[in-house]
This record gives sequence, C-alpha cells and structure tokens, in this order.
Amino acid sequence: MTPSFRMVASTLMFSAVLSAQAQTGTPVPAKAALCAACHDAQARSSQSVIPILAGQTARYMVLQLRDFQAGRRSNEVMSPMVADMTREEMNELSAYFAGQKAPVQGFVADAGKARLGKLKADETLCTMCHLGGFAGQNEVPRVAGQNYEYIVKQLSEFKARTRTNDAGSMTSVSSTLSAQDIENLAHYMVGL
Ligand code: HEC
Ligand code: HEC
Repeated sequence: MTPSFRMVASTLMFSAVLSAQAQTGTPVPAKAALCAACHDAQARSSQSVIPILAGQTARYMVLQLRDFQAGRRSNEVMSPMVADMTREEMNELSAYFAGQKAPVQGFVADAGKARLGKLKADETLCTMCHLGGFAGQNEVPRVAGQNYEYIVKQLSEFKARTRTNDAGSMTSVSSTLSAQDIENLAHYMVGL
C-alpha cells in the first residue's frame, strides 16, 4: 500500500465516521451493524416481529438489554446477542439507536380497528405512562409506529405472563384486554 493510498483510505473512513456522527450526534458503536442486520427498518415488512429501535428511549433499551442478559426477559433470537455484552456497550448501543430517526411505518392500519383501539387506549389510560401519542419516556417505551406483529406479540405475552420483566405494570393492564382489543390497539399505535 502506498502512503498516498493509505492517506486517502483513512481520510475516507474518517469522513464516513464524521458523517455518521453528524447524522445521529452519537459515535457509531462497533456492534451497531450486527444489530441493524435484524433491527434495521428495511427488514421490517418481512420480519415485523422484530422491533424498531430507532427513536426508542435509551433508558428503556438499556433495561431490556440487561433483562435479556439476566434472563428476566427471554427470546431465542435476541437473548444470545447480549451474552457477552458489557454495560458500556449496552449504554453506547442504546444511545446510538435512540438518536436515530424512527422510520415511516409502511403498515396500513385498518381505520375502524384503529378507532376502536384509540377508545380502548383512552379507557385504559395507557398514555398515563406512555405519554400522549405513545411517545414514551425514560423506562416506558415508545410504541408509536412500532411494528404491528411485534406489538401484538408483546401484548399477548404480557397477558399470558410469558413476558414478566415489567414490574407488574403491563401484565396487569393486559390481563383486561381481549385478543380483539390487542389487535385494535396495535392498529391504532402502529399509525401514530
Ligand atoms: C438475529 C436477529 C437479531 C439481532 C442480530 C439483534 N436482535 Fe435485538 N431483537 C430481536 C428480536 C426478534 C427481538 C424481540 C424479542 C421478543 O419478541 O421479545 C429483539 C429485541 C430487542 C430489544 C428490545 C426492544 C423492545 O422494544 O423491547 C432491544 C433493545 C434489542 N433487541 C437490541 C439489540 C441490539 C443492541 C442488538 C445488537 C447487539 C440486537 N438487538 C441484535 C432480534 C435481533
Ligand atoms: C402503569 C404504567 C403503564 C400503563 C398504564 C401501560 N403501560 Fe405499556 N408499558 C409500561 C412499561 C413500564 C413498559 C416496559 C416494561 C418492561 O420494562 O419490560 C411497557 C411496555 C409496553 C409495550 C411493549 C413495548 C416494547 O417495545 O416491547 C407495549 C406494546 C405497551 N406497553 C402498550 C401499552 C398499552 C396498549 C397500554 C394500555 C392498554 C399500556 N401499555 C399501558 C408501562 C405502562
């Protein structure tokens, strides 16, 4: 490799890092590409049981990564990803994905179901915790624009108590929801 080539290559790499930083305001962590292989918005139509991380609250994601590692939350695909993850990597990856712009949702919600979902959300006071428009805050996740299949899966798992890392908040709320309520709520939240 000639010195000039090396200089050009390192300048290119440096500017790629700079532009990624400029986009998100956060340096790109080493493992981010691995995560994006599944979590990237492009993959969502075919793999929508995988959640969108872009724009999710950092605090919530750190808690989930810790819970997966400690076995408080379990998923055969996601759990192995955190096996050797350090606390610092969890913080960096969460800050990075939180700083990314949430993609425009491609799912077309059913207007009638979405209307019933909104009524149910109002009646159940979901936004007392999740904030208006399900925007999320701190350890309470953003659900607005999340993938339809993923939302249905999580609410069903809270209801069935196969996901119980929520300190009781979601398992108690979802125990009152029917399968139809869950479908309606998902049609509503996916379009926010
Ligand atoms: C092979 C696919 C795959 C890869 C690679 C992957 N994940 Fe996941 N991830 C999933 C699936 C599937 C879920 C949903 C699990 C469930 O249904 O409970 C998930 C869930 C999550 C959640 C919880 C989100 C929420 O809304 O509750 C976080 C945070 C997360 N992943 C972060 C990461 C990070 C950081 C990486 C990179 C180190 C990563 N994932 C790599 C498939 C993957
Ligand atoms: C008492 C506060 C509270 C109320 C009320 C509440 N939530 Fe939650 N919700 C939470 C918390 C906290 C979590 C994250 C739990 C965890 O850490 O695993 C959560 C998680 C979720 C998730 C999973 C998100 C993800 O990315 O995995 C969905 C979907 C959800 N809530 C929807 C709802 C809906 C719909 C309602 C109303 C019917 C509702 N929530 C009412 C606090 C609440």
